[in-house]
Amino acid sequence: MSPAGAEARPVPVPAWERAAGRLWHAALAGGFLVAWLTADEDTYRMHVFAGWWVVGAVLARLALAVVATPRGPLALVRPGRPAAMLAFAALVLVAVGAAGWSGVVADGHPAVEDLHEGLSNLALAAIGLHVGLVMWLVRGRWLRPRPSQRAPQPLRLLLLGGGLAAALLAAGPARAGDPARDALLAGLAKAARAEDPAFTAFSPERGEKLYRARTGANAELAACATCHGDDPTRPGRHAKTGREIRPAALSATPSRFTDPDKVTERFDRDCPAVLGRACSARDRGDYLTFLMSK
Ligand code: HEC
Repeated sequence: MSPAGAEARPVPVPAWERAAGRLWHAALAGGFLVAWLTADEDTYRMHVFAGWWVVGAVLARLALAVVATPRGPLALVRPGRPAAMLAFAALVLVAVGAAGWSGVVADGHPAVEDLHEGLSNLALAAIGLHVGLVMWLVRGRWLRPRPSQRAPQPLRLLLLGGGLAAALLAAGPARAGDPARDALLAGLAKAARAEDPAFTAFSPERGEKLYRARTGANAELAACATCHGDDPTRPGRHAKTGREIRPAALSATPSRFTDPDKVTERFDRDCPAVLGRACSARDRGDYLTFLMSK
């Protein structure tokens, strides 16, 4: 802690540093926004570009801090700023950097995708906290110089941030248990009975037929197997983006079919694209039963 009064004295800073600080902030925020909005596979190239941009911006920030005036606007720790603000800005930098870097790794290693998704959600949460805190501070509660008031302990705030991060990360695997998959199948069975009272059970044989069916509806995406592979226990390859897809079979990818929203979203997207029609509840249950038997 520097003595009171010293903080108020302005440090002479070249104008470029202030400009660089603003530009950098816009570059990071813009890059993250673009990456967030393009996370879909149809905009994959843009997503990868934005991801590298974000990683570059985080590294650039560290480089700028090294060359800039000590205690100036580009210093990582700026005297006079509330500790909470510094702590959350640091959390954003670390979380966004980790999200970006895990994305770069996931590009070549699909197994890292879940981690990348978790870290990206965490980064978004950190950004929300950072923005909320800054807005609160700007209302004038803490930015008014009150030398008598001690800023909250950075350690406590970091612990708070870390606890939040751990909770978010734990929420991922917590959803990824067998109960979720069982509940999904039970829900589909109920829907299949509602569709057809004669329905008795899902069939892995019908599921395999669906997996390999070539209806001719889409020349480029001829069958589910076109992307998911003839052998579902082996990694597939996306017919459009060329990216590897984790094996569709449960035995090879134990986290399969544990996120009902993801499963529904994929059926709603992949069935019309490949078969030219929606998949019924029976189709869905058959398909899952086939891949769970593999
Ligand atoms: C254009 C390529 C492509 C085709 C064709 C395709 N899929 Fe997919 N599918 C994907 C991708 C990419 C994912 C998400 C990555 C992952 O789950 O590893 C996915 C995931 C899924 C999932 C979710 C798996 C899970 O673990 O939650 C289901 C269900 C699914 N696809 C069903 C189908 C069905 C049914 C067909 C055929 C009618 C089909 N897919 C055809 C690309 C494709």
